[in-house]
Order: sequence, then structure tokens, then C-alpha cells
Amino acid sequence: MAPRLRGIKEISSERAPAPPQAHAVPSGVAASLRGVTRSFGFRKVLGGLDLDIAAGEFVALIGRSGSGKSTLLRALAGLDQEVTGSIAAPGPVSVAFQEPRLVPWKRVLANVALGLRAADPVSVARTALREVGLAERESAWPLTLSGGEAQRASLARALVREPRLLLLDEPFSALDALTRITIHRLVLSLWERHRPAVLLVTHDVDEALALADRVLVLGDGRIAHQAPITLPRPRDRDHPALSALRLRLLTELGVPADSTQLTPVTFRSGMPSRIPWAPPRSELRGPTD
Ligand SMILES: Nc1ncnc2c1ncn2[C@@H]1O[C@H](COP(=O)(O)OP(=O)(O)OP(=O)(O)O)[C@@H](O)[C@H]1O
Ligand SMILES: [Mg+2]
Repeated sequence: MAPRLRGIKEISSERAPAPPQAHAVPSGVAASLRGVTRSFGFRKVLGGLDLDIAAGEFVALIGRSGSGKSTLLRALAGLDQEVTGSIAAPGPVSVAFQEPRLVPWKRVLANVALGLRAADPVSVARTALREVGLAERESAWPLTLSGGEAQRASLARALVREPRLLLLDEPFSALDALTRITIHRLVLSLWERHRPAVLLVTHDVDEALALADRVLVLGDGRIAHQAPITLPRPRDRDHPALSALRLRLLTELGVPADSTQLTPVTFRSGMPSRIPWAPPRSELRGPTD
């Protein structure tokens, strides 16, 4: 099947720079962005961003609040008609958001089967619910689900479309720590089984370090920093390479220098919300240094 290429909005003004054409990508690429730019009024949120995501790669995207992470995801999902540049996403793309966005007047099974183009959508949806451990809740109404169950239903709905690219916008941030660990394991096992490329937006640096093959930092409208992680999973969060990378990423995020003498785990607006001990910065060197 020919790759589906999405050329984004043309600029007709003679003074405006012409956007790049939608570009062809090799078969090993799940998503490719070139010169992607998005402004709201006079504020440029994405400024000529370039990014390639390999087929089957698990990428985490972090960045300060308001840096444009959701804007980037919306552009990749084809939900933003105002973005300029070139985006190629050959193959089905699914999105799961922070709030599960289930239709409240449809039962769980119907939510997962909704809009599915398959010979037997109900049985496909049932299989997906089984995979996320929610088979027994198929007849439940969405509002009776716990947060973790609703998020699993949302994952089932995203996966049932067999996406080549799965976009996750902070889907676990509202969950308690224990549920989050369980769902991390679930996501990894689903990813290993189905192998979509994943772009996960998160505020939790440890979540990024636990799950991703590569962590991106969005800053000034571009990928300001990126770090591959080659450690096998499951990962020990206290592994020296991860401790070093955690500090490096927090520094990239602009967490104040005296805070990075400790190890903040999550951040909002650049400030840590939990600060366990970590070795002093001078003893650490990031894998990308
Ligand atoms: N429809 C819109 N109209 C005007 N401004 C917008 C719109 N959507 C996003 N913005 C602005 O663009 C900037 C980036 O928003 P975005 O939601 O992408 O940030 P984010 O990195 O996802 O932030 P957070 O981590 O808080 O979710 C913000 O300043 C936001 O106010
Ligand atoms: Mg966001």
C-alpha cells in the first residue's frame, strides 16, 4: 500500500515562505515531520520542527507546560488544519488523551467498537478488551469505571485500530502511583505484542525513563534535546545511567540548578513535585554528554 502522506496547509502570500511538500519516507519510518510550524496569533509554538520516529520505536516527549507538546500531537494526528510544514505518517494513527473520552451513553464494548471498520467489530473489540484485562467490564457504563479501568478502555479503543503510530497525551497522569505502575507494564506488553511506534507525552521524567527508547525535550518550538536509552526493560530506576540522564533532562527542562542537586521526579511548570535524594551533579555524566 502506498504511504499516506499528509501535506499541511499551503501559504499563499508571496512574502510568506513556501511550506515544504509532503515528503516520501522509507518503510522503516512511522512518522516524519519537516519544518512543522504552528502559531497562535503572534505566538509561535512550533517553529520549524523536524522529527523522525522509526517503525516500532517508543519515544517519550517531555517539555515545560505550554511548550507545545499537545500541539505537536494534534498535528501528527491530523487534527490541526492550521499547521504548516510537512508531516508524513504512513499508516493508521491512534490517539489516547489524558481524559479517556469515552462516550458516556455507550457501554464499554460499544465504545471500543465505535467506528471500527472490521467484518465483526464486536469480536475485535472484545479481543482488545481482553488484552487490556477489561473483559469482565464490557457491559459497564463508562462513568462506573475506575480511572485505571477507563484508561485501559481508552487504550483498547486506540489499539483496536492496529495503529502504526500510537499517540499518547499524558494518558496516565491522573492515575495513582500503583495503578500507573500496573498500566506501564500493560503498555509495554501491548507495545511488545503489537509493535506500533509510540509517541508518549508525559510530565513524568521517570515514566519517560522507564518506558522509552528515546526521550525528546521540546523547547523553543523544536526538539531541543534528545537522548536514546538502550537499557533493557524492566529498568532499575536507580541505574547510574538513568540517574545521570534524569538530571540531564531536568536541566534541559530548566529546573533550577540547586534543585538538580537532588532528583526531582515529576514536574509541572518546570518545578519538581517530589524530590528524593540523588548523587551530586559533579559525580554524574549523562549518556549523551
Ligand atoms: N487553540 C488554541 N488557541 C490559542 N492558543 C493555543 C491553542 N492551543 C494551544 N494554545 C497555546 O499554545 C501553547 C502550547 O499549548 P500546548 O497545549 O501544546 O502545550 P503543552 O506543552 O501540551 O502544555 P501542557 O504540558 O500544559 O499540556 C500554549 O501557550 C497554549 O495556550
Ligand atoms: Mg498538553
